Amino acid sequence: MTAALDALAIRKHFPIFDREIDGQPIVYLDSANTSQKPREVIDAMSSFMETAYAPINRSAYRLAAEATDAYEGARAKVRRFINAPHAREVVFTKNATESLNLVASSWGRTNLRTGDVVVLTHMEHHANIVPWHMLAAERGIELRWVPLTVDGQLDLTELPALLDGAKAFSFTAMSNVLGTITPVRQLCDAAHAAGAIAIVDACQYVPHNVTDVQAWDADFVAFSSHKMVGPSGIGVLWGREELLDAMPPFLGGGNMIVDVRLDGYTPAELPAKFEAGTPPITEAVGLGAAVDFLESIGMPSVRQHELAVAGYALRTLTERFGDDITIHGPTDVEVRGATFSFGFRGIHPHDLSQVLDQRNVCVRAGHHCAKPLMKILGAPATARASFYLYNDESEVDLLADALDSATDIFDFLT
Ligand SMILES: Cc1ncc(COP(=O)(O)O)c(C=O)c1O
Repeated sequence: MTAALDALAIRKHFPIFDREIDGQPIVYLDSANTSQKPREVIDAMSSFMETAYAPINRSAYRLAAEATDAYEGARAKVRRFINAPHAREVVFTKNATESLNLVASSWGRTNLRTGDVVVLTHMEHHANIVPWHMLAAERGIELRWVPLTVDGQLDLTELPALLDGAKAFSFTAMSNVLGTITPVRQLCDAAHAAGAIAIVDACQYVPHNVTDVQAWDADFVAFSSHKMVGPSGIGVLWGREELLDAMPPFLGGGNMIVDVRLDGYTPAELPAKFEAGTPPITEAVGLGAAVDFLESIGMPSVRQHELAVAGYALRTLTERFGDDITIHGPTDVEVRGATFSFGFRGIHPHDLSQVLDQRNVCVRAGHHCAKPLMKILGAPATARASFYLYNDESEVDLLADALDSATDIFDFLT
């Protein structure tokens, strides 16, 4: 049985929640944007900088060897966390955006020619659209798009036709706008049946669910540390060894070579081949601590908790606000995470977010880096409340109370 998660106890690990603004606690509902950091991550990073910081890989002295062990130790933790077969397949990048650019640039330029097809979906983040647009402009590749159903899931009816002749299918595992969790294994299977590779943008998925890249049978998986209680400045690209081995480096410089001559260079083996320059050393230590922290709670418990909070949020917001609120995305919590984009009484999301902020309720307003999706939703912007392991039902109520107060303010003004 999955252990129940105590969000209040978990909050105590996050120093930021000791802070009050205007004498009131912070209701942080913007974890889809970036998550807060537990003491364990903060301490691991400062203790590393205070006692063990040194360059990695290039020096023979003991301190540098220790720092290298810490950096590679973080890679080993990430490998275990996503059940990757080999640590050398885990590449540290700057963030998920860089991971996806690495695939589009290195795999894409090597494998795609004019007229080749890449399939994306209408719910992608710009990080999984723009790199392909850039490649399309350079290479003349064709982009095809999987549309959505009315409740914000992928409409897979035409998928075999869309994938016909495709070389790659790149899709999100969980939408940052709709909260939709996509059927990743099914999508990977469909890609492979068509002879395409499957690239998974798991940026919103990994922080909230058990991730098993082998069970997915994916080819590449991208995510960011900062959304999973780790520091910003480091991300992950996991890729199948044989694909990564066959790809040219993405960036050139130090650390990614075995030899450099006047007439050329020889790239290093994985993963150094894709880690040019001085990497985010302290951030890797922080990411390792984030993995330890999440594992100590258990990802099945995180998912169970968020299912409960998502269900409560859907019920509470619809019961309290009826037609005044439009929540985008699935109504079935089994196929969604606890991220809710919504429109409220025609109030501009930026105005709404400012009014909610008066009660320290932090929600994001805007297009959420998913402009094609916003166009399909017919809304240039939405407000978005996203819950994580440190949030609970009481904060759904605080959000609802803040929405009530927004109603009062805007009724008064109009
Ligand atoms: C689904 C998805 N993909 C990619 C990204 C890009 O992440 P980062 O900005 O950390 O590179 C985000 C960030 O919000 C996201 O939500």
